[in-house]
Amino acid sequence: MTGPRPAVYRDQDFPQDVVVYEVGPRDGLQAEATLVPTDVKVRFIKELVGAGLPLVEATSFVSPKWVPQLADAQEVLAELGDLIRHPVLVPNMRGLERARESGVKSIAVFASATETFAHRNLNAGRTAVCEMAAEVAAEALRSGMTVRGYVSMCFGDPWEGAVETKAVADVSRQLLDAGCYEISLGDTIGVATAAHVTALVNEHVAAGVPLNRLALHFHDTYGQGLSNVLAGLRAGITCFDASTGGIGGCPFAGSATGNLAMEELLWLLHGLGISTGVDLDAVVRAGQTITDFLGRPRSRIAMAMGH
Ligand code: HMG
Ligand code: MG
Repeated sequence: MTGPRPAVYRDQDFPQDVVVYEVGPRDGLQAEATLVPTDVKVRFIKELVGAGLPLVEATSFVSPKWVPQLADAQEVLAELGDLIRHPVLVPNMRGLERARESGVKSIAVFASATETFAHRNLNAGRTAVCEMAAEVAAEALRSGMTVRGYVSMCFGDPWEGAVETKAVADVSRQLLDAGCYEISLGDTIGVATAAHVTALVNEHVAAGVPLNRLALHFHDTYGQGLSNVLAGLRAGITCFDASTGGIGGCPFAGSATGNLAMEELLWLLHGLGISTGVDLDAVVRAGQTITDFLGRPRSRIAMAMGH
């Protein structure tokens, strides 16, 4: 069944196609206190891929002591079959070993623009965390994997406050030099506003980073997600992260709430006449699977569509 659609008004300044990168099964679930059974996670991932999402970050190979929710990463991957091509998050060499044993082809490594969050998220300083990510990236590339890089706390940090755009671009540069094909700039606590997004993208361009090597990763804590996407589009970005159902948060950043909802991102992009290759109705149904299981409200678009 096909639900309502936005009317299409194209803005010639925007790209024809955008890549949407789904983080729900990883970023969305990692902070959930109720353990989600492996079969529910696998069903969620399969529904997301079935909806046409080209990249679904399936889980993470972090320490199960730090993130018990994703302790079943091996079990999840064992159920994925061909879908094993989708990426997983890896913090260190131990995580890479586990991912390799599971047949993973694509990973994402992560670092922090701030010192405090590097400690809180990875138990090491900003420089050490960056070196660890670079070491993991190099080894993963040697194994024939593709590697994405995340930088967290790109727009503000709950402990350190404002974050300089240059500090972020320095970390991005190190991850690119380590061989990451793309850097996703994370607004971990959702404090970014539109002109700040423009400034951060421009800082990267000035540092020689090509626009097609950047992605934007918004959490919607302060309701700025979509206006930040629009600013990103205007600045020339063509890859955006989001989580179906708007679930998510980071267990190590107290004020991080849900990611930008994939349903809302798709409504905006499709209304702008930008192709994503994704079936919005199928994403809405996948969102329902997970929000109903978690007992969370459905996304605004699911509710508007009468789901
Ligand atoms: P540590 O405690 O310093 O690590 O944590 P350790 O090396 O001392 O190891 C402690 C224990 O964990 C040991 O076991 C290790 O073997 C084990 P024990 O000897 O005590 O039995 N261990 C592991 N087990 C399985 N897989 C592993 C692994 N590593 C160690 N990979 C560590 C350091 C990096 C492990 C820890 O800090 C960690 O796992 N952090 C991950 C935190 C995390 O997942 N954060 C959320 C993801 S990032 C995010 O959400 C932001 C993002 O969305 C973008 C944005 O929004 O900004 C990407
Ligand atoms: Mg995140």
